[in-house]
Amino acid sequence: MWNTCGIRWGVVCLLGLVAGGLTSCVPPIVIDVLTGTRPTVDAIDFTAFGESFLWGAGSSSHQHEGNDIHSDWWAWELDGHTKTGETSGLAADFWNRYEEDLDRAQSLNLNTFRISLSWARLFPEPDMSAPDEEAVAGYDAMFAAMAARNIRPMVTLHHFAMPKWLTDQNRWETGAAIADFEQFARFAAQRWGKYVDWWITINEPQVFALHGWWRGVFPPGKTDLGLGLSVFLNLMYAHGHAYHAIKEVDTVDADGDGLAAEVGVAMLLVPIVPFYPWDLIDVVFAAVSNELTNTVWFDIEQIGIPEVVVPFGPGLVEPYPDFKDTLDFIGVNYYSRQVVHIVPPFDLLFDPLPIGTRGTLGHEVYPEGLYDVMEQVARYGVPLIVTESGVADDTDELRADHIIGHLAELTRFVDDHPDVPVLGYVHWALTDHFEWENGFGPRFGLYEVDFATLERTPRPSSAVYADIVARARGLE
Ligand code: FCB
Repeated sequence: MWNTCGIRWGVVCLLGLVAGGLTSCVPPIVIDVLTGTRPTVDAIDFTAFGESFLWGAGSSSHQHEGNDIHSDWWAWELDGHTKTGETSGLAADFWNRYEEDLDRAQSLNLNTFRISLSWARLFPEPDMSAPDEEAVAGYDAMFAAMAARNIRPMVTLHHFAMPKWLTDQNRWETGAAIADFEQFARFAAQRWGKYVDWWITINEPQVFALHGWWRGVFPPGKTDLGLGLSVFLNLMYAHGHAYHAIKEVDTVDADGDGLAAEVGVAMLLVPIVPFYPWDLIDVVFAAVSNELTNTVWFDIEQIGIPEVVVPFGPGLVEPYPDFKDTLDFIGVNYYSRQVVHIVPPFDLLFDPLPIGTRGTLGHEVYPEGLYDVMEQVARYGVPLIVTESGVADDTDELRADHIIGHLAELTRFVDDHPDVPVLGYVHWALTDHFEWENGFGPRFGLYEVDFATLERTPRPSSAVYADIVARARGLE
């Protein structure tokens, strides 16, 4: 195998020598990484942010609230499925500490906060006819607390954790969850539409489907690609139904900007690039997987769900045209790029040479990738919001540069694409939290959480973010 590899590298290098001289034997990616410079605040174009730009920080119910005891994730953790054996427990105890955390968001000059609603907390029983009153009252108070601080909520309805009953009954596989989700969305929009103008139906549908049904690292822990594809398709149907339900019942413009309900999806976008640009195999593989990973949802959304894909969803019997034109914005979740190299016959190497600045989860900090993925989805002609961007960094050595670098790229994108509205940037996350299968180790917070005492301490990067937002919003 290494022989084949060596010969291939030799041929590739020879081609490179002919085309570009000596340095072309070294993959340009390596040169870029080694010669990269630190970003400075001067690289941010502060004129690129409109007055209504959404400046936020993120959270999700299962990762932050704590005691999400009726969720499938809760049971999954108790069954020992996290890498460290940790369970979410009280998580960051956001359910009880949201007032103080919203004060923190306010002290960072933010005007937006992203939460998700725990479907399991709101509808713990299989019969969805009656929501749990305590849970409803809790969210009532949380939304009122945001309104009191002039913080606009950005609300995700489906952020990985599901009611346990729903997963136990395989309802995403059979498609029965589509109607459940529509009901849930309708309820939430009816109840809290007066507070909420920004709705994210589903967070990272491809991650949910593939981690849960193909890679088996999320509940229900299955490893069947066919099922994963069915679930993915059912999520599309569910999004379509939820979109129309929300539009129907949330007619209240909460903040007076003329918008009552803007509904989108938040997609994990990953630029997939070849390790060696002279190498046709890498180039083709990267190009194809880049398209499939990042745009398949949006492509299908543009044409509705065509009959041709229906056979992949065994629970589905008929096409559902209402998926068409159901995006008021695209939520861009961006963390890193993926460099790929294929070693014959078909060994796929992700990250062939793991160099560059990396967070504790191993993700390369690569701000230019934000520009690339925004450009990739700009073709769909809807506004973009960066709904997640952040880095696992317990020592806070990377976070400030990360924020500066990504905002510089965001404004470079705005300047280069005046026709594409970019409406917001939400940093992931306000505080440390439970990071799914990775437990409490990865630290994404602008605020550090001591999980023994649940005390919060601002990390130095939070002041850098607060200063940038103040300058952008003209608050200084
Ligand atoms: C995203 C998830 C979010 C968080 C970050 C680090 O993919 O949406 O919940 O775990 O990764």
